[in-house]
Order: sequence, then C-alpha cells, then structure tokens
Amino acid sequence: MKQDKSISFNYKEFDKPEDLDPADLELLEKAREIALNAYAPYSGFMVGAALRLESGKIISGTNVENAAFPSGICAERNAISNASANHPGDKPEAIAIVAFSGEKHSSEPVSPCGNCRQVIAEEEYRNGRKIRIILGGKNKIRIIESGGDLLPLQFNSESLKITPR
Ligand code: THU
Repeated sequence: MKQDKSISFNYKEFDKPEDLDPADLELLEKAREIALNAYAPYSGFMVGAALRLESGKIISGTNVENAAFPSGICAERNAISNASANHPGDKPEAIAIVAFSGEKHSSEPVSPCGNCRQVIAEEEYRNGRKIRIILGGKNKIRIIESGGDLLPLQFNSESLKITPR
C-alpha cells in the first residue's frame, strides 16, 4: 500500500518591527547588537543569536570562525551551549537570529543552518518546550512557533530506541 503524505507549517511575517511583541522585539535588538561582536574574518557573514530563557534572562552568542574552517561554530549553537552550561534548568523559550554580510544587515531573514536546527530541536525535546524562532531581516521579520517546524521527521533520542528484530 502506498500513502501520499505531506507536512506543512504556519509562520508569521512582519514588515514593521513595531508590530512585534515587545519581548520579541527586545530579543531581536539584542541579537542585532551582539552580531557586531561576531568573529567572521573568513566569510564576512556576522550572525547574532539571542535566547530568552523562562526566567526572562537573555543569553546571546555570535558565530566564531576558525582558519580550520570546520572548527568554527554558529551563533545559535554558541548561545544554546552557553545557556545550557550556565543556566541549567532555565528552559529557552525563544531565539532571535540576525545576520550582517559585512556592514550590511541582511534584508531577508536568515534561517538557522541544518546543524543548528538539529541542536534547537534537541533543546526543545529535552525540555518538552517549544522554542519560538524569530528571524530578523532588515525589511522583514519571520516568526516560527517551534524550531521543530524547521526539522520535520527529525532524528532525536527516540530514533535511538530502535527495537532489534
Ligand atoms: N552561521 C551562523 O552563525 N548561523 C547560521 O545559522 C548560519 C551560518 C555562520 C557560520 C559561518 O561563520 C557564517 O555564518 C557563514 O556560513
């Protein structure tokens, strides 16, 4: 038997930052600010990520590149690792992501890469809590209610519980 299936998700787009929830706007501003501290001499692509925890604390990170290219790390994973290590139990509820190419704020929202989607999905899974993704472009802001929406049919700890046959 063959079944055709499909997966879709809803997200929101804003063209004016003023229309955002004030807490989301604050997070976006923090991501924009921290992006300027990115160490991205190889790509010139500077990314800032700001994570809001349940307590209201904001933890941020940037991408940090390396001459040995794969040793570099993305902004999102830096922010998540920082929060996990320094604020255990304080669950992330939202992450804002902003990118600059050189001096220029990207006009379109930039989505997290595949590795970061995987890490965001793990964070949601281990905390049993969705993380709202706020993607800030210069002319457009996109909000996705759960990181898991960006990684359908994901691999997670459940996948490791394979029943041997
Ligand atoms: N980068 C991030 O920090 N986050 C993403 O989700 C996409 C890519 C960084 C990695 C690298 O330093 C630069 O952007 C160009 O790929």
